[in-house]
Amino acid sequence: MIVGIVGCGAIANLITGFVRDGKVPVELGFFYDRDLERAENLASMVDGTAVLDVTDMLPHVDLVVEAASPEAVRELVPGILEAGRDVVVMSVGALMDPELRSLLEKKASENNAEIHVPSGAIVGLDGLKAASMGSIRSVKLVTRKPPRSLGISMDEKKVLYTGKASEAVKRFPLNINVAAALSLACGRDIDVEIIADPAVDRNVHEVTVKGDFGEFKTITENVRCSINPKTSVMAAYSAIRLLKSLSENMHIGT
Ligand SMILES: NC(=O)c1ccc[n+]([C@@H]2O[C@H](COP(=O)([O-])OP(=O)(O)OC[C@H]3O[C@@H](n4cnc5c(N)ncnc54)[C@H](O)[C@@H]3O)[C@@H](O)[C@H]2O)c1
Repeated sequence: MIVGIVGCGAIANLITGFVRDGKVPVELGFFYDRDLERAENLASMVDGTAVLDVTDMLPHVDLVVEAASPEAVRELVPGILEAGRDVVVMSVGALMDPELRSLLEKKASENNAEIHVPSGAIVGLDGLKAASMGSIRSVKLVTRKPPRSLGISMDEKKVLYTGKASEAVKRFPLNINVAAALSLACGRDIDVEIIADPAVDRNVHEVTVKGDFGEFKTITENVRCSINPKTSVMAAYSAIRLLKSLSENMHIGT
């Protein structure tokens, strides 16, 4: 499978390192970033090609990994699907926009392409999807992050947001992919609390789900990427694992 990457930052760096080390059996052939130097740097790690426009890679790839930004999902993913290429979307917050989501689903179905959304920086999406086959009473996410991971500085713990995921995504677009992934996995606008906490040095996500299946609680304490402290290493690992799974014939825990 030949893969192209859109967005050559923290997540793309980790993916490229794994592919270069032979840990994922895909060919990373093409790299695009609005900062060409970033694309060239990653391309040089795997003998790939940096392109000036995403359309330049489309004739040559089977799948494109979007690891850029919500705007890249809006601006670039429709064209990638129109070309019949599968897409992995990391900026899942963008998919909370129902109009964009249905446009992408339509383009995917018309062009026989698939949209994959990895579990990202959270554990337990498999259980939440299964639970949503029955009736779910509540899903609550409490996200606790070091202030600098939220792009702010403060000395005391502060609750920044309490409300629904759909609104949180608008107010913290680069930080709330987990809330979006949980909402999309269970088809409801989940309850979210975001806390800036100088006492933590990891991005911590606590999820509580209640329904007719019973109840579960997960806590994910994520180490942050050195290149971009807003992003958790686990998010990149989930994309890497997805690329590996797409090259396998048996799928466990999906
Ligand atoms: N699903 C999850 O759980 C999860 C977790 C962490 C990050 N993310 C999301 O994944 C995306 C990538 O994260 P990252 O930490 O690698 O980001 P990053 O900021 O380290 O890198 C993003 C790169 O994409 C480029 N870029 C941004 N918008 C672009 C556009 N429209 N066209 C071309 N290039 C563009 C930037 O120049 C940058 O090099 C972000 O949107 C982030 O919010 C998702």
